[in-house]
Amino acid sequence: MEHLFLFGLCALVALYGDKGVLSQAPSYGERGSDLGIQVFQQVAQSKPQENVVFSPHGVASILGMLLPGAHGETRKQMLNALRYKKNGPYKMLKKLHKTLTAKSNQDTVMIANGMFSQKGFPMEEMFVATNKANFQCESRSLNFSNPDAAADEINEWVNNKTKGHIPSLIKADMLDAALTRLVTVNSIYFKGSWKSRFQPENTKMRPFNGGDGKVYKVPMMSQLSVFNIGMATTPQGLKYKVIELPYQGDTISMLIVLPSEEDMPLSRVIPHISTATVQSWTKLMHMRKVRLLIPKFTVDAEVDLKAPLSALGLTDMFSQDKADFRHLCAEPVHVSKALQKAKTIVNEDGTKAAAATTAILLARSSPPWVTVDRPFLFLIRHNQTGTIIFMGQINRP
Ligand SMILES: *[C@@H]1O[C@H](CO)[C@@H](O)[C@H](O)[C@H]1NC(C)=O
Ligand SMILES: *[C@@H]1O[C@H](CO)[C@@H](O)[C@H](O)[C@H]1NC(C)=O
Ligand SMILES: *[C@@H]1O[C@H](CO)[C@@H](O)[C@H](O)[C@H]1NC(C)=O
Repeated sequence: MEHLFLFGLCALVALYGDKGVLSQAPSYGERGSDLGIQVFQQVAQSKPQENVVFSPHGVASILGMLLPGAHGETRKQMLNALRYKKNGPYKMLKKLHKTLTAKSNQDTVMIANGMFSQKGFPMEEMFVATNKANFQCESRSLNFSNPDAAADEINEWVNNKTKGHIPSLIKADMLDAALTRLVTVNSIYFKGSWKSRFQPENTKMRPFNGGDGKVYKVPMMSQLSVFNIGMATTPQGLKYKVIELPYQGDTISMLIVLPSEEDMPLSRVIPHISTATVQSWTKLMHMRKVRLLIPKFTVDAEVDLKAPLSALGLTDMFSQDKADFRHLCAEPVHVSKALQKAKTIVNEDGTKAAAATTAILLARSSPPWVTVDRPFLFLIRHNQTGTIIFMGQINRP
């Protein structure tokens, strides 16, 4: 088996023509991720019993691509929501993109951006050039007069970029034969091997107390190992454990958030999560030898971004009358739809990396158990930039 941890995700925005239609300053990775986390919080609140997976960085990326085209109040709302500085966020975003896709993360994080525009639709050259320079954004032209063929081509691109994990992002009926002008797409693919692998023979069916109050038998992976673990507290005094599972290469980790009280719902912790909160965990965490039990799981989700982004003050970009993308093209356009699909597969699986992880099984004394057997939150974080690439809530693995 090739790898143990895969993610695919895409975020998409379609534009229609107007006629019808931290203690220290947060990094740019953190600024964008914070907006994405706020979207996640809204989604999780509206689906408290479901599994959710989401890419905070994907949302920031799609807005980052539209930003050079925006003007006036539309642009101001985007900058406010992202907490980007007025002048020159592009230099920082370019650097972030470069760092995330650097050689040291290669084969782990793959990010692709694409713009699909209507044939003959005159986009501003600066807009296209800025996106190409900042995000290595590909541009292609399509004929949206045939929505089925256009959707197929975009979906094929997404399928390619996510290595088959998101086979279909848009439906033909999201496109308008006469009015669709541009579809921008961001795709993120992540594949990491645990630094310390789980032995498949240690995976056993064990009980998990689902978010709905029922008990489910699920495959629980298990390993005795040294993990970075801490106990944190929300401002309301609710305690939760944080467990770090690093991937090979040590640039990216999964962080598991597990409420301490068995009957404390995950929804009490989620509103407290931000990149500053995540940053603050570092001080609370220590290396400890424990037996960690964590479920294998697969989760996929689709999120319509319009309502959550509107609730966060990004309203004008969705309004036919108010949207101002004058630096994108001369013709008035607005965002008609924004959505994200994401998928996560977690298992114990062994690459060659697996060999590196087995050396830890040493303890004689009975170490404490940390069992992730109730709803938990996970975040996939790029350590250096603080960027949250993925996050999710698991109510029932
Ligand atoms: C797009 O397709 C329609 C019908 O299939 C055709 O009439 C039109 O000329 C095409 N436009 C371009 C720019 O190729
Ligand atoms: C997807 O990948 C295949 C094989 O590499 C390639 O032939 C095809 O053109 C790609 N499709 C898109 C839309 O990029
Ligand atoms: C993350 O970075 C900090 C500071 O650069 C370092 O102390 C810490 O060990 C890193 N964590 C991981 C898992 O590499």
